[in-house]
Amino acid sequence: MTPSSRTAVFAGSFDPLTNGHVDLITRAAGLFDRLIVATLVNSSKQPLFTLDERVAMIRGVVADLPNIEVATFDGLLADFVKERHAHVVIRGLRTASEFSDEWQMALANRHLYAGFETLFLMPSATLTYISSHLVKEIAALGGSLEGLVPPSVAAALQSRRPQRSGTTR
Ligand code: PNS
Repeated sequence: MTPSSRTAVFAGSFDPLTNGHVDLITRAAGLFDRLIVATLVNSSKQPLFTLDERVAMIRGVVADLPNIEVATFDGLLADFVKERHAHVVIRGLRTASEFSDEWQMALANRHLYAGFETLFLMPSATLTYISSHLVKEIAALGGSLEGLVPPSVAAALQSRRPQRSGTTR
């Protein structure tokens, strides 16, 4: 491995961070000397949490892992990876159906930056069904977030839940 390949970037929206993401962060941090968890304002999505809120949530959860940096970027992921002198990007693969979109993105990123390598990691089998979309829906409808997201993220999701006033018939 060359020195630059000892740094990896785990890029995503993390809106919000789930236990599936935490599992992948822990696995990737064990494979590389340094892991940059990078999030962004994604113009194609309407996030529930602001960029600052997502960064604070991730920082709080990964505080005990020594080799992790949390960063933000705008523009192309390929440019961010190049600027950081990295060339490995971690993406999680939960189901086979995710593969075609990920495959397309991996090759587009390699078109933009020839050194770009995408490394797919699988989360623990018990976490494969978890997604940020799912946890937001469960939270909005008052369901339990136990085991789905870190406690601090559960608290943030619950504080965003619209308060219901009175009973309707
Ligand atoms: O968690 P997500 O939303 O699946 O992450 C998607 C992300 C952030 C990795 C992707 O949207 C991205 O890389 N956005 C930055 C803009 C960019 O580089 N677009 C071209 C990708 S081929």
